[in-house]
Amino acid sequence: MPAWVEGRVAGRRQWNDSLFSLMVDAPEVTFIAGQFARLALPAPPGAKEPMLGRPYSFVNPPSTQPHEFYFIILPEGPLSPRLAALDAGDSVWLAPRANGFFSIGETADAESLWCLSTGTGIGPFLSMLRTHEPWQKFGRVVLVHSVRHADELTYRDDIAGIGHAHPGAFDYVPMVSRDVHRDALAGRIPAAIDDGRLEARVGLSLTPENAHAMLCGNPAMVDDVQKVLATRGMRRHRRKEPGHITLETYW
Ligand SMILES: Cc1cc2nc3c(=O)[nH]c(=O)nc-3n(C[C@H](O)[C@H](O)[C@H](O)COP(=O)(O)OP(=O)(O)OC[C@H]3O[C@@H](n4cnc5c(N)ncnc54)[C@H](O)[C@@H]3O)c2cc1C
Ligand SMILES: NC(=O)c1ccc[n+]([C@@H]2O[C@H](COP(=O)([O-])OP(=O)(O)OC[C@H]3O[C@@H](n4cnc5c(N)ncnc54)[C@H](OP(=O)(O)O)[C@@H]3O)[C@@H](O)[C@H]2O)c1
Repeated sequence: MPAWVEGRVAGRRQWNDSLFSLMVDAPEVTFIAGQFARLALPAPPGAKEPMLGRPYSFVNPPSTQPHEFYFIILPEGPLSPRLAALDAGDSVWLAPRANGFFSIGETADAESLWCLSTGTGIGPFLSMLRTHEPWQKFGRVVLVHSVRHADELTYRDDIAGIGHAHPGAFDYVPMVSRDVHRDALAGRIPAAIDDGRLEARVGLSLTPENAHAMLCGNPAMVDDVQKVLATRGMRRHRRKEPGHITLETYW
């Protein structure tokens, strides 16, 4: 198997100054919803490895092409500004195999699924929630997208489409921490769980008896949410030791 497969940029979308989506044709790379690819570009001269690669979650569901990746441009980062400079027709390389265990198949049975994300961590949920799996496994699904500023509440059309496809079964909760925004909860996810605002917003309780939580994005959010959920008796889910929390950290 080759180390890298050459894909081709099929399109791009710039959401604001720092958020970007890249569409990539690489049909030979297959995945399970929730998994991540490794995207790469040739490394700068003098680097130890010939290619510079980083993991990125698939945003598209596995049944559709092209692949889609959603990322933040970190101006000092070695790869993200270079990916953001790509245009339709340019080459980008992918590891031939997708990876990761952040998928519906790795969750415990429960009445409701809580998908809790910060920033670009919403990506894998957009993939999973556009497959049949979560809707067959859970009666209700809540998607929380927590961002600093309102213009980072991206993918609203796709999220509305998920709601239309699953009436009565889906709730989307935007959260904005550094602006005031009409539809959004203020502050951070752990506080909104702790003081009951998140459950009140969707009319569901988040308890070990009825819920499974998937957490994705900022590692500090992932830690802090686990601490709050631990006070309710919720713990990491593992194949050999069933629990209530599945997680993916982005750095
Ligand atoms: C399993 C996995 C999946 C990932 N999926 C995505 C994805 O779908 N979209 C995405 O944008 N990134 C994702 N990342 C992060 C991504 O791999 C890169 O780290 C990121 O694009 C920055 O790359 P860089 O080379 O420019 O800078 P790096 O040197 O890799 O990162 C510099 C610093 O930027 C911060 N940072 C990294 N990623 C993010 C982020 N997503 N949001 C906010 N701050 C960040 C961290 O403080 C990090 O130390 C994922 C990481 C992992 C481990
Ligand atoms: N977002 C931007 O406008 C922007 C622009 C250019 C570059 N960057 C760079 O990108 C990185 C951050 O990207 P980002 O804004 O997508 O991600 P982020 O820092 O993870 O922020 C996303 C959301 O997560 C919240 N959060 C942070 N720590 C948390 C915790 N411990 N528990 C719960 N919630 C927590 C933030 O709240 P708080 O607001 O309270 O922290 C914010 O609402 C930084 O390196 C930044 O310099 C950001």
